[in-house]
Amino acid sequence: MRIGVPKESVAGERRVALSPDVAARLVKAGHELLVERGAGQAAYMPDATYEAAGATLTDTTGAFGAEIVTKVQTPTLGEASLLGDGGLLISLLQPGEQAALLEALSSRGIRALSLERVPRITRAQSMDILSSQATIAGYKAVLLAAAQSPRLFPMLTTAAGNIPPAKAFVLGAGVAGLQAIATARRLGAIVSGFDIRAAAAEQVLSLGATFVGPKPSSDAEVKGGYAREQTEDERRATTEAMAAHLKDQDVVITTAQIPGRAAPRLVTRAMVESMRPGAVIVDLAADSGGNCELTKPGDTIDHRGVAIIGASNLPSSMPYHASLMFSKNVFTLLSHLISKEGVLAVDPKDEITGAMLVTTAPVAA
Ligand code: NAI
Repeated sequence: MRIGVPKESVAGERRVALSPDVAARLVKAGHELLVERGAGQAAYMPDATYEAAGATLTDTTGAFGAEIVTKVQTPTLGEASLLGDGGLLISLLQPGEQAALLEALSSRGIRALSLERVPRITRAQSMDILSSQATIAGYKAVLLAAAQSPRLFPMLTTAAGNIPPAKAFVLGAGVAGLQAIATARRLGAIVSGFDIRAAAAEQVLSLGATFVGPKPSSDAEVKGGYAREQTEDERRATTEAMAAHLKDQDVVITTAQIPGRAAPRLVTRAMVESMRPGAVIVDLAADSGGNCELTKPGDTIDHRGVAIIGASNLPSSMPYHASLMFSKNVFTLLSHLISKEGVLAVDPKDEITGAMLVTTAPVAA
């Protein structure tokens, strides 16, 4: 099959959907790879490495004209118009917000698989882009906090005096949060965490952090391991616990999300104002409304000496490994869709494909 890899056009996006390594494996399996010139440049994967992998370098039209097109960010309507009728698009597609795009694709018989919709089942774990990219975001969030903080993370005993370890708190212990906990521990901070899911509480403890806040209720976890929204009573208990704990923290990383909804507001202005000068908050939920009341997405602000980093698209800031993981996920998905004989099957009844398919077949005339 002809597989196209366009260069990303969204400002600041440095990832590429398929690495040269994965391109080589696909070429070996008999596919033709059409890679737009410069597609991997910002991820430190130069054109020459794709050529060496057996891919053909092309222009935007050539890459979008392939039978299967895979990219990172949702294509614009203009880019989508370059896709061939009846083709297959594999990308992040923000299905809840892109009605016009999905309608345009459906009307031309283009099938689109949304990478946000990989089902959370064991079999699909190696295709799960949200998990692989959240791992990177959790790691980078801690590095941003450490770079911004006026304090050292580890405890040091030196001739110039003893330095106590920094205190880091991670709010939301899903994929990104657990990686943040592990990274902050490696840097030597004293780490605590909170989540509303009981399984997450156990994972916080298993990483050597302490769990703070109200005891999670057993029904807080819904299908796929995601959290449900908190009740009014639960919210009040969480707010009280956060208010007491936050004022003694040097670093706070927030990652709490509810799928399909605005991120829960967990850190209020009053809580920020109770923190000591030099404290740092990194809000990983900035793009979905923010866990902190004062967060400005894509910006770092200073509020009475507390830095609030509205972290936006952190995986793109580590484009090499983010792209390697992204393309491994896409490769596993392609291996699921294409048989060894090279036949593509986009079966709406398949548990994985069906969950990801966000276009409808056009009604036959
Ligand atoms: P997410 O990005 O939707 O949310 C991040 C975290 O925020 C979650 O742990 C959630 O419980 C927490 N949260 C939501 N509301 C909160 C609140 N008010 N206060 C504190 N925390 C709050 O979730 P993520 O990280 O993508 O995945 C969550 C879980 O899903 C994972 O820990 C894992 O158990 C499961 N999972 C399963 C996979 C599979 O089986 N294939 C793949 C990936 C994740």
